[in-house]
Order: sequence, then structure tokens, then C-alpha cells
Amino acid sequence: MTWADLDHHGDRELAPGLVDLAVNVRAGTPPPWLRAVLRAALDDVAAYPDAGPARAAVAATHGRDPAEVLLTAGAAEAFVLVARAFTPRRAVVVHPSFTEPEAALRAAGHPVERLLLEAPAYRLREVPEDADLVVLGNPTNPTSVLHPAGEVAALARPGRVLLVDEAFADTVPGEPHSVAARRDLPGLLVVRSLTKTWGLAGLRVGYALGPPELVAALAAAQPHWPLSTPALAAAVACTAPAARAEADAAARELAAHRAALLAALPDGLVVGEPRSSFVLLRVPGGARVRAALRQRGWAVRRGDTFPGLDADHLRVAVRDPGTSRAFAADLAAILEAEEILAPMPTTTSQPAPVPEEHR
Ligand SMILES: Cc1ncc(COP(=O)(O)O)c(C=O)c1O
Repeated sequence: MTWADLDHHGDRELAPGLVDLAVNVRAGTPPPWLRAVLRAALDDVAAYPDAGPARAAVAATHGRDPAEVLLTAGAAEAFVLVARAFTPRRAVVVHPSFTEPEAALRAAGHPVERLLLEAPAYRLREVPEDADLVVLGNPTNPTSVLHPAGEVAALARPGRVLLVDEAFADTVPGEPHSVAARRDLPGLLVVRSLTKTWGLAGLRVGYALGPPELVAALAAAQPHWPLSTPALAAAVACTAPAARAEADAAARELAAHRAALLAALPDGLVVGEPRSSFVLLRVPGGARVRAALRQRGWAVRRGDTFPGLDADHLRVAVRDPGTSRAFAADLAAILEAEEILAPMPTTTSQPAPVPEEHR
């Protein structure tokens, strides 16, 4: 693959009429109360946004000082700010993983080394000692692996920025392996997103947490007023105790829904131990299977644009059990047909053409 593939994301898999198993935004969001918050915020958009209350709210929710919080236009902006603010001598990105951090570093002209973890467990392993920027996701997209907090913490060093992408941390009940509240680890920068759990991907809300000097360095690279007034209102609302409790309840329900999906899927396809809102599958003939799934109305995320994965990897979002069972049944039927057709491929075994934008 070329590094241009790093720009591919699940939204590119979507098309009218397809059930979305490709994008990991929680279904049925934003909830009505949050829509009301956004609508109310529109009344104030004549004024320039005031980030103070949102910064204080985020700080309070993680037991931090406001000086340790930088609000960003989604987690994605934080990666760009890191790439702008720092000039790493040796940047190491742990893969397979979300590709935007590497894309941002490369776009800023920084060389990037990939540390590929090994299937099926994708356990963390040693990082070169002289790496002065290390990036990893926890839980990790697309493997859904949750690294123990102790192993993540052990990567922190004086003289190194350790960027932990916790965009999916709130999909894990109780967040036992989040390091968002850790103030004792040198150079730790935690990036969080409010777009997945709360259905705000189109609004763009996230934040970074870290030592004040790192936060200040990122802020200096950020344009003025990066978040709109509605986005700031959402940040306040989604970090309030009631919203945090709602997110935790959603994470518990998600765990049950994920168990239903895992129980319904044909044996032997799931890679590793999924802990987030998606599962990674390894499916023989993955490209054909993905095309056949599209014909049956399912959009799943291709895996081959993630460093370390190939076309046999497919990422599937966890949805309600009825949807998961219907999907699993279609997948089983496709795989059965694949097995019958595999020994003597004919024109009838070819998938229907896939539109250019979905290849
Ligand atoms: C692991 C991970 N981190 C960060 C992001 C970006 O999140 P945001 O929408 O907050 O920019 C995504 C989006 O898909 C993601 O999967």
C-alpha cells in the first residue's frame, strides 16, 4: 500500500441502501436531549465562542486542571496539532491502528516508523528506546484490542511524547485501562473524542489531555476559535456526570450486543479479543466477500488500508443483536457459496462491479 491509503475511512464504504457496519458511531445518536442542547446553542452563535466552560467541564470530568485540557475539532485535529507543534527525531506509530496520526505526521514532513503488532492478540511490545514520539490507540481501531493500562504507562519516558488515542475509551465499561487521569507520566498526551458515543462526527468535538507545557505547545499551533459554540455546548453536556453515566450504560449494553454478534458469527473468523464497538474479522477471499456483502445490503470496513492488515481483514461495527444476526446469516451464506465456488472459479463467482469510490 502507499501512504495515500491512510486517508481511507469507513464513511467511504457507505452508499444509499446499505446498512452501515463500516462507521463506528453509536447507532441512534445524538440522543434527543443532546439535540436540544445543540439547537439551544444556535441562539448564541452571533458571539465568538467562549471555550472556558467546556474546558473546565472536561477538566473536571478527568480530575484535571483546565491548563491540562485542549479542546479540539474532533480527535483528528489533535493529531494535526501534534504534527505541527513537534519535530520528532524518531516517531513510532504502533499498528495496525487508526491512520490519521501517521497521515498527519507525514503530511507535516516527519518520517514515521511503523511498529507492527502481531496477530491475533496484537499485544503491545517494546518500542525503540530512542523514540521521542510514540503513538498508539487504546482500545485500538481496527483490532478492538484493549491494552492493559500498565503496559501503556510503561511506554512513557522523559524526553518522549506518548500519544494515546483514546477515541474509543468510553466504549469500555468503567474505562479501567484509560490513562486519561494520569498526571504522573512524563510526556503523556491523551486524545479523546466525543463524536463516536454521542453521534457528533459531523459537529467535530474532541480534546487532548496532558501536561500544561504540552497543551500550550499544541494550542500555539491551533487556529483561534477552533470549536463552534454548538460544539462547545456539546462538550459541556457530554462530560456532565449524567452524560458520563449514560455513556457507561451504553458501554455495558454494547458489551452484550458484541457478545450477541460474536455468538452469531461463523466460527473462526474473529481476530483477537474485541473490547470496543467493532470487531475485526479475517475472512478468506475478503475482497470478494465484501463485494458480496454489499450486494446483500451490508457495508463493512475494508481492512487492507490499515498497515499490517490485508484484504482478508474486514471490520464490522457492533449493532443491535437483530441486525448482527441478520448480518451473520448473510455472511455465513456467502462463505458457504464461496467454498462451493472456490475450486472452480467461473464468471458467476465474480462479484458485481463495485463503484469506483468504494474500491
Ligand atoms: C481510533 C480513532 N481515533 C480518532 C478518530 C477521530 O475521531 P474524531 O471524529 O473525534 O476526529 C477516529 C475516527 O474514526 C478513530 O477511529
